[in-house]
Amino acid sequence: MRTKEDFIERVLYTEEQIAARVKELSAKISEDYKDISKPLLTVGILNGAVMFYTDLVRRITIPVHFDFMIASSYDANTHTSGKVNILKNLDNDPRGRDILLVEDIIDSGTTMKYLMDYFKDKGAASVKVCALLDKPSRRKVEVQIDYRGFEIPDEFIVGYGLDFAQHYRNLPYLGILKRSVYSK
Ligand code: IMP
Ligand code: MG
Repeated sequence: MRTKEDFIERVLYTEEQIAARVKELSAKISEDYKDISKPLLTVGILNGAVMFYTDLVRRITIPVHFDFMIASSYDANTHTSGKVNILKNLDNDPRGRDILLVEDIIDSGTTMKYLMDYFKDKGAASVKVCALLDKPSRRKVEVQIDYRGFEIPDEFIVGYGLDFAQHYRNLPYLGILKRSVYSK
């Protein structure tokens, strides 16, 4: 039988490596925001960030308000369209809030730049970015990543929430997708 592992070139980060890094990031976030007056408004960007987001947020020790957003700059392939749509917005009012956007990966930077500007326009007190993965070689617009899990090479990554055309999100590790899967 074919397994999902047949599509993986190699494992980039194991479950254990991811968990260790998530622990470090959540400790740093808890420390940096310990003096804010309202709970930190964490915003997970669905769907890709869901695994990272829930693992990260449950380890943050300061009070948090837990929210989600769906933003899409992607079609069902590996090429960004450069256009961002908000398909689901926050339940919380962002005005006057310290917002931490939690994303799976910063690639061209288009999605994150758009969301940061969006929340600044809406009157957020502060907007910071926590991204599990950073692919700096692909950047088209500049984005400051305040909390970064791992810097990665220009490969297509799947697993731990990240997909290729909705496949492979449930792999527990981060893996490099075989080029033969998407260059056909
Ligand atoms: P950006 O707007 O180009 O920075 O795109 C960010 C979004 O593209 C991420 O949230 C992912 O959904 C998707 N993406 C970019 N690179 C990868 C990858 O290597 N694997 C899976 N999704 C990716
Ligand atoms: Mg995403």
